[in-house]
Formats: sequence, C-alpha cells, structure tokens
Amino acid sequence: MTSLEMSADVADKVASLAKRRGFVFPSSEIYGGAGATWDYGPLGVELKNNVKRAWWRAMVQLREDVVGLDAAILMHPRVWEASGHVENFIDLLVECASCKKRFRIDELPGGDALMDAWRDGTADLTTVACPSCGTKKLGAPRRFNLMFKTFVGPVEDTASVAWLRPETAQGIFVNFENVQQSSRRKLPFGIAQVGKSFRNEITPGNFIFRSREFEQMEMQYFTRPADAPRHFDEWLAVRRRWYADLGIPDELLRFREHAENERAHYAAKAIDVEFRFPFGWKELEGVHNRTDFDLKRHMEFSGKDLRYFDEPSGEKFIPYVVETAVGPDRTTYALLCAAYAEEPDKEGIRVVLRLHRDLAPYKVAVLPLSKNERLTPLAREVHGALRPHFMTTYDETQAIGRRYRRQDEIGTPLCVTVDFDSLEDRQVTIRDRDSMAQVRVPIAELVPALKERLGA
Ligand code: GAP
Repeated sequence: MTSLEMSADVADKVASLAKRRGFVFPSSEIYGGAGATWDYGPLGVELKNNVKRAWWRAMVQLREDVVGLDAAILMHPRVWEASGHVENFIDLLVECASCKKRFRIDELPGGDALMDAWRDGTADLTTVACPSCGTKKLGAPRRFNLMFKTFVGPVEDTASVAWLRPETAQGIFVNFENVQQSSRRKLPFGIAQVGKSFRNEITPGNFIFRSREFEQMEMQYFTRPADAPRHFDEWLAVRRRWYADLGIPDELLRFREHAENERAHYAAKAIDVEFRFPFGWKELEGVHNRTDFDLKRHMEFSGKDLRYFDEPSGEKFIPYVVETAVGPDRTTYALLCAAYAEEPDKEGIRVVLRLHRDLAPYKVAVLPLSKNERLTPLAREVHGALRPHFMTTYDETQAIGRRYRRQDEIGTPLCVTVDFDSLEDRQVTIRDRDSMAQVRVPIAELVPALKERLGA
C-alpha cells in the first residue's frame, strides 16, 4: 500500500503507531483520559515543532511583508464581545431523549437542510432518527457556545469572567496598531502567530483532528479594501504550495468554497483547503476574507481609532483582512496519514513513514552493526560527531534489520551503520530510508555527505 491508496484503516494504523512509538498519547491516560485532549511524546513534539518551524519560516522569516507576534491567551472579556464570539461562536446542540447522546445539528442526516430550516425557524426534528439509537426522539436544538469560561482573580463573579481564546486571530487584531506603528509597516502587511486555542467541541474526535485544546498557526494580512480579493487568491496559491513543498501530494488536497449559510460570522468569503483523510475530505486550513469586520468592531467596543493613515493620499480607512488559519495538530495528522506506507519485503511488510526530511523527528540514526564492545566506542564517537549538526538517535539493541525497520517506521531519512570494517578503514555506511540504497563514506566526510542528502 502506498500512501496514496489510503484506506480507512490507515487512521487506526497511524493512531496505533503514534501511541506505540511515542508520537501522541491520550492526555491523562492513567486517569482514563481527559476528554479529547492529547499529549505529544518525544517523537511527536519534534514532528509538531518541525511543522510549526516550517510554517514560521515560510510565513514570516522568508517574507518581507509579514511579522510575528505572540499574544496572551487570556484577553480582556470585551474582546470576545467585540469579535462576535460571545454571541455567534455557537454550535446547535441536539440531545436524544432516548439514549441521551448529543449531536451537532449539522452532523445529523440531512444536516445542511436542517441548518437552513433552523435559520428560517422551520426546523422539524420529529422526523429525524437519532444516529445512535434510531429512535425519533431528538429534542429541540439549543445554542451552545464553544468558548471555555474561566475567572480571573479570587472571586468567581460576572466582573471576573475571562474566556480561553477560541482563535489566536483576536490577539493580532487588538495589536494591529502596536505592531503597525512599532514596526513602521505600510499596507499591505501581515502579522502571524502560533499558539494554543481552546474550543469546547460537542463532538471532538478522529484522533487529533478535532480536540478541545489545540494549536493554531494564523496570519492576518492587512490590505486596502479593493486589493483584498487579489490577496485572497495569492494567499490560496501560497498555502497550497506550502503543502506541496512538505511532500503532500496534490491528489490529497482540494479547495472548497463555503456556501453563504456556512461561513463564519466574520467572513465575506471562505475557502477551505481540504485534505483527504482516511475518513473523508476534511478541512485542514481556512482562508478567509474577514473584511474590516474585526477592526471595525474593536474600534466600536474600545473607542480607539484603529484606522490606517495612508500618507500619499492623506486618507484614513479601516484595512481589510485576508486570513490564513491552520492547525499544526491537524497538519501533523495529515502529514502522518500522507506519509504512512506499507511495502512487502522479504521479512513480510515494511512500514515506512515517508516524512519530508525537514519534518522527520530524527534526521539520522547511528547504528553499530551489533552490540559488540569493539564497535561501541567508534559508533559512539560517530554519534557524538553528528549530534551538533543533526537531530540524531543511537540504537544498538536487536538485529540490524529490525533496527532499520524501527527507523523506517518513525520516518528517519538516513541511518549510519558502523561495522567491523569501519574499525580498519574508518568508513561507515549510509542507508537511505526510501530507496534503501547503501553507500560507503569516510567518517571524515560524513557530515557533508549527510548534509547533502538532507538538503541541509
Ligand atoms: N481564525 C479563524 C479560525 O479559527 P477555523 O476554521 O475555525 O478558523 C482554523 O480554524 C484551523 O484551526 C482549522 O482549519 C483547523 O486546522 C484548526 N482547528 C480548528 N478547530 C480545531 C480543533 N477543535 N482541533 C484541532 N484543530 C482545530
């Protein structure tokens, strides 16, 4: 099975591999889990950090027109009134009177039509069967706000309410003036940030696809209103190229434009970048034209003038915003699914994660041919020499074939093997994960040889 022939059981295989090899664990597992939150293990934290680093490099460091920000999670509660989240960031929750299971209305059979009917005030759920128990006893839809509420300070009253942010974007909007003036930016320019967001999802699931605590990588691009449609198209193309550069095949990606009744309250236009997960096409990233919605509302609610002064024309206006918004957790999952492959070989099935070399948790594994005391000193010496240059690992237990397989399964692009000839000729073998080709290289030339293969 190549990664393109992704079958439904790839989801199970990836989740099992992730647990077994230390990518992702259920949070608070010894207490039975903590409800759709996940912990990243030693390999997972490397992989997700590499995803975030690749995004930051492409979206901030390689661009002249985007700067970074790291805003606080806890913000003034008025932010969420201004942004519309207190009023509009809701799911419609339906409960079955018979089995007590809860559903989002849009997940029920005929969900889109039910959503439309709800908006018109004509939704009739008495004819809809519960997806879990089959009875027709679904209650009336209730508005359920997805934001987590907490309290700042020792008193839990209405004056001390705070919300855990459900999107990182608002930290950027409220800092628009600070960033624009301190970095003396002219339109168009973007502000990017990576950080945690929280949503009390009614139906989290599909492993790390939808959880209650997750991260976002968001970029708000401030532009003249008339230029927003052009920048929208440019950013779509930029984002698609980013996925291609990370090795996600084009066939696994598509764009899907939101219908008017599907768009978030702030969006005048929205296109999802969708990925073909083993459980179907699903949103990976949203690109939105948020118009001047957010800055205008923050002007109204804060009383601060957030208009941009255009020196050449002497005009003052509220910029429009084109947003690209993606989750590193969801991206990590998509990358794992796209990279997962099984190949027949003489020992049965070889499982290989064909991760892009920039994303792989370890770039190089150093493996002595066997756990022989004559080999250990040289293998350790080689490992020590590589460590300052690459993220490396060292493994000397079990047969060499098993150890190659272990590295294939976690996506390590290159293995370096130290054998008995190495003691005489000071040469080692580089073995490539994908082609399994092997080449002999002098230890003195090992670092440049590996760098060349890793494109480092
Ligand atoms: N600021 C716009 C915004 O938040 P969104 O489409 O709601 O837009 C953007 O979220 C991205 O954040 C999604 O495409 C997804 O990658 C990620 N995301 C959203 N909710 C998530 C969840 N519950 N679990 C994991 N990732 C999530």
